[in-house]
Amino acid sequence: MNPQLDKDGNLRHLLEIEGLGRDRVVQILDTAESLLPLTERAVKKLPLLRGRTVVNLFYEPSPRTRMTFELAAKRLSADVLNLDVDHSSARKGESLLDTLRNLEAMHMDMLVIRHPDSGAAHFFATHADPQVTVLNAGDGSHAHPTQALLDMFTIRQHKPDFAALTVAIVGDIAHSRVARSQIAALRLLGTGEIRVIAPHTLLPADIDRLGVKVFTDIDHGLRDADVVITLRLQRERMQGADLPGSQEYFRHYGVSSERLALASPDAIVMHPGPINRGVEIASDVADGPQSVILQQVTNGIAVRMAVMALTMGGERTAAQEPGT
Ligand code: NCD
Repeated sequence: MNPQLDKDGNLRHLLEIEGLGRDRVVQILDTAESLLPLTERAVKKLPLLRGRTVVNLFYEPSPRTRMTFELAAKRLSADVLNLDVDHSSARKGESLLDTLRNLEAMHMDMLVIRHPDSGAAHFFATHADPQVTVLNAGDGSHAHPTQALLDMFTIRQHKPDFAALTVAIVGDIAHSRVARSQIAALRLLGTGEIRVIAPHTLLPADIDRLGVKVFTDIDHGLRDADVVITLRLQRERMQGADLPGSQEYFRHYGVSSERLALASPDAIVMHPGPINRGVEIASDVADGPQSVILQQVTNGIAVRMAVMALTMGGERTAAQEPGT
């Protein structure tokens, strides 16, 4: 049984891309598309989650993801609580289960969780009360499904025919939950060719099972790519010996304008943020005409609204509240 779906097959939690199916991913992207104009209106509110309580529980720092989850929940009229982990009981030794039970005692409806351990979001979803929805905002190096969905949304805006695309993901694949979720989403959408470009030390052990073409030479890997996704070196997840020097890394794997010229002339350049200029990406590429990095941030609000609306609003609200 897929823990993300309820007994009627509706989306109940979002923990990972795997197991969602193509139609569900397209439904999320289509819903986000219908919500996008709202983010540009003077009054940016819908009543879909009015009276609901959303808790952002972040055990790792995250400027973009937390703020866009918060904005998404507020635009759907939810009450939002942000639990700042540095000052929370986690530092005082409270277990995840006790934290969950306390939040349930406050009658929260949705938990957005980021945690350094892979599997933390599944743990919360498995143990939460049946009416609580859990959204994974990044767990260890396992998954970051809303990031992958907003990336698919951004790609679709520019290049709607996934079957015709060559997508190259460059950088620290080994430690990246973003890359893992992107690969799963790109596969579901039937992407023509998925490439990863990285030194051997930054490739995950199970790379052969991920259905991607591996390149250790960036110049070969970028050739004729339609989408170039750059990733940060996740130094916080590396052991000392694996740590490459920044300048050396840029020389071998940095996306510079010279290298970008090897890709398709209308290729788009993406990055989930935070960017490290002069390490994985040159400033003139990050700020250049092919960059859609800031569009990804804007799209993140609509995509997170869509996920919240589909898990908590829509079908489930109608089923729970007679007369609505
Ligand atoms: C990513 C993350 O936290 O996994 N960032 C994000 O959510 N925007 C990638 C990263 O930290 O490099």
